[in-house]
Amino acid sequence: MHSVSTLGYMVLGVSDLAAWEGFAVNVLGLQVGRRVAGESLGLRMDDYEQRFLLVKSELDDFLAAGWEFETDAQLDAFVDQARARGAGIVEADREIAEQRRVARLFVCHDPDGISHEFYSCAYRAHTRDAFRSSALRGAFSTGRLGAGHFVTVPKQSARAKAFCQDVLGLKLSDSITGEAAPGVNLDVTFFHARSGRHHSMAVAEVPFPVPKRIHHIMVECTDANDVGLAYDRCKQAGVPILMELGHHPNDQMFSFYMISPSGFAIEFGAGGIVVNDDTWEIKRYSELSDWGHKLNPPPGAPAPNAP
Ligand SMILES: [Fe+2]
Repeated sequence: MHSVSTLGYMVLGVSDLAAWEGFAVNVLGLQVGRRVAGESLGLRMDDYEQRFLLVKSELDDFLAAGWEFETDAQLDAFVDQARARGAGIVEADREIAEQRRVARLFVCHDPDGISHEFYSCAYRAHTRDAFRSSALRGAFSTGRLGAGHFVTVPKQSARAKAFCQDVLGLKLSDSITGEAAPGVNLDVTFFHARSGRHHSMAVAEVPFPVPKRIHHIMVECTDANDVGLAYDRCKQAGVPILMELGHHPNDQMFSFYMISPSGFAIEFGAGGIVVNDDTWEIKRYSELSDWGHKLNPPPGAPAPNAP
């Protein structure tokens, strides 16, 4: 089974590019990359030219996952396999590949309309143009582990999980069935790519309608102090906190969740583990967090004791 190597980039459709730029640079600590005025904004986390692409769109949702391969041969073998499995994969126009800052790009769509994009060679910034964050003390944890992870809330979770395993070639990491709040049970299934970040993609089943394709995106930093510093920046900038500081029992991530200008959440964390397939045991957990991650009421909701 040919599997994607890592989640190299993510594409978000956002209605307010200016609000996102301020949020991404000043709160998350990303660096502005390639800009097409009024149309799109690339964001950097490391020596890649682009790890996030923001595209002007009224959807305010997750548009695409960019899956990386280490070599052209691996990419070609994967594309052949995906075609044989009926995934409807096609080569993207040169213009789209350029916008994604990759040399060659193949695309297919999952059952929920998310674009999954496959490439083997991402453009790197010139050595004179090293990544600089105006906010981070350490660095983002990227490299072979990729840009981070995302968690989808599909219409039919069985179909979504089958796509992860049968088309993308992701492997099951583990699953959690637990309470996000009293009486609110979530079921989340976590999948890892070949390079081993505990999960590059997860599928969440939630007992209420979610207006977005994803629950959240995660970015990870190398210094846990940066999680606290980002939390302070959110408080100072008035960015709503969806879930307070806490720790997940499966990927060991110390993190909190903020609400992005597009309404979906961003998890900002440190300390996530890497799976070694030779020794990994798949487990089922019964709690989403072993401490913290208290869910806050939505912004603007009346206080519990309000009349
Ligand atoms: Fe997460």
